[in-house]
Amino acid sequence: MEVIRTVAGLRERVGALKASGKTIGLVPTMGALHEGHLSLVEKARGENDAVVVSVFVNPTQFNNPDDLRTYPRTEDADRALLEKAGVDFVFIPSVEEVYPEPDTRVFALGPVAEVMEGAMRPGHFNGVAQVVSKLFSMASPTRAYFGEKDFQQIAVIRQMARLEGFDDLEIVACPIKRAADGLALSSRNVRLTPEQRAEAPGIHRVLAESVEFAKNHTLAETRSIVVEEINRLPFMEVEYFEIADPLTMRPLSSWDQEHEIPAVGCVTVYCGDVRLIDNIKYNR
Ligand code: PAJ
Repeated sequence: MEVIRTVAGLRERVGALKASGKTIGLVPTMGALHEGHLSLVEKARGENDAVVVSVFVNPTQFNNPDDLRTYPRTEDADRALLEKAGVDFVFIPSVEEVYPEPDTRVFALGPVAEVMEGAMRPGHFNGVAQVVSKLFSMASPTRAYFGEKDFQQIAVIRQMARLEGFDDLEIVACPIKRAADGLALSSRNVRLTPEQRAEAPGIHRVLAESVEFAKNHTLAETRSIVVEEINRLPFMEVEYFEIADPLTMRPLSSWDQEHEIPAVGCVTVYCGDVRLIDNIKYNR
C-alpha cells in the first residue's frame, strides 16, 4: 500500500492507472476506521482494479468547532487496517493540500440538503459537497463508495454529482454495518460510556420493531411510537425522526406517498452529548 499526501502525487498515480485502462474505486473517509468503512473497501476491491481510500477530517463540514476538535484521529491504526484490507493507495492530505485557499463554493443542492441533517447542521452538506467534489476531481474514480448509515449524505452527493457533471462516475450505496447487538458502527461510538454503549442498541431495536408496527398503523402513528420509545431509553433524546422519500429525502406524511422503493426512517439521537444517527427501510 502506498501512502500519498499530495494532490499532485494522487493525480500522477491514478492518471497512470487510468491511462492503462484500469478501473479505480474511491472510498472517502474521515479516518478512525472501523468495520463499517472496511465493508466499503471490500466492496470497492471486488469491483475495481485499484482502490484509493482517502482519510481526511474535512473542516468545512463541521458546523460545531468542538465536534471538529474532538473528532478521533488514529492515522497509524487506520493505515494498518487499510494495509491489511488490501488497499492500493491511501490518500492522507493536509488541510492546506485540499484547501490551498478557502473554498467559497456554494452548491445549489436544493431540498434534499435542506431537511433533517441539513436543517440541524447548517452548512454541513455544503462542506461535504465541497470536499467530495474535490476528491472526485483529484482521484477521478470509476466508482465511489458511500455507506447507507449516512443515508441523506448519499442523496446529497448524487445531487452534487449531477450538478457538477460527474456523469461517468458511478456512486455505489453500501448497506449499514452493525455491531452484533445492532448498534450501527460509527467513529463516534468510542465516545460513549460503557453504560451508554449498553443502551445504544435500543435505537436500532426500536426502529426494527417499528417496521412490523408500520404494517398496520399510519405513518404518523409509526413516527410517534419511534420517538416515544427511543426517548424512553436511558440517556437517549431524539433530535429528529422523519420517514422520508429515499430519493428526494422529502419527509412523507402518509404511506400513500410511497413509491416502489421503500420509505426510509431517519433518526438522530443524542446519547449524552454523543450524536448518533441511524435509519431503517420500511419494507412494508
Ligand atoms: P465517515 O464518517 O468517516 O464515513 C466514511 C464512509 O463510511 C461514509 O460513506 C459512511 O456512510 C460510511 N460508514 C460509516 N459507518 C458505516 C457503517 N456502520 N456501515 C456502512 N458504512 C458506514 O461520511 C464521511 O466520513 C464524510 O462525510 C465524507 C463522505 C468522507 C466526506 O468528508
